[in-house]
Amino acid sequence: MTLADYVEILQAEHRMERVYPFEFEGKSYWLKQPEHPHGIQRLLKPFSRAAFRREIQRIKWLILHKAPIPPVKIINSHCLVMEDAGHNVRFWLESDITAAQKQRILDDCAKALADLHEHGIVHGRPLLKDILWQDGKVSFIDFEAVSHSHKLIWQKMRDALLFIYGVCREKTTPAQIQRTIDTFVCYEDSRVWHYALALVKKYRFLYYLLLPFKPLAKTDLLAFYVLFETLLAKFL
Ligand SMILES: Nc1ncnc2c1ncn2[C@@H]1O[C@H](COP(=O)(O)OP(=O)(O)O)[C@@H](O)[C@H]1O
Ligand SMILES: [Mg+2]
Repeated sequence: MTLADYVEILQAEHRMERVYPFEFEGKSYWLKQPEHPHGIQRLLKPFSRAAFRREIQRIKWLILHKAPIPPVKIINSHCLVMEDAGHNVRFWLESDITAAQKQRILDDCAKALADLHEHGIVHGRPLLKDILWQDGKVSFIDFEAVSHSHKLIWQKMRDALLFIYGVCREKTTPAQIQRTIDTFVCYEDSRVWHYALALVKKYRFLYYLLLPFKPLAKTDLLAFYVLFETLLAKFL
């Protein structure tokens, strides 16, 4: 039986699963399929097949441009099979590896994102659950569809802020966040970082506006506070 035959069986058995990890001939893979929204989700996500087709187009473009994504084994309008490229970085940060190992992973990711940008590629939403790490190798998954309405530098700046936001959102210490920013700044085009800081400065009123709600805030908003506090401190 070939990998494609096996995947066909898996697709029939796991039709409703968005992503499904499996083994074939001793190797690990991930199957991804269009979402099958239920109930109210059907109204909220009516175009899941079209979204999947856009994702496939994006991946074909990324393969062509040799982007650091996991090796793609099967790609068509109803299924994507990639080799397993390690745990996502959120998993690593929650695991019981040492603080030094966690920092190494964060530094590797910061360098990998700057490198991606240097090759003229943006991710769109580089949160840590969509960055994989295995033995020093970083792979990106789940890219957003490209926006043609913004300049590349604006998209890189957005990537930078979302990446740092993602680092703030996990169980990271201020020192880990700062070091990851320093690594990123060291490798990234300085205009991107300059632009990001200018944007944070411009929107700092949002931080002050939301500050009274800090005691009530949940993870997503707390990360927003940490992001602003870390970056605004650069102006003091
Ligand atoms: N090739 C892969 N190697 C390792 N883990 C993967 C791979 N593809 C997906 N995953 C895991 O599955 C999760 C969901 O995959 P993703 O493509 O981001 O789907 P979704 O669009 O539903 O977020 C990822 O956060 C990651 O942990
Ligand atoms: Mg994802």
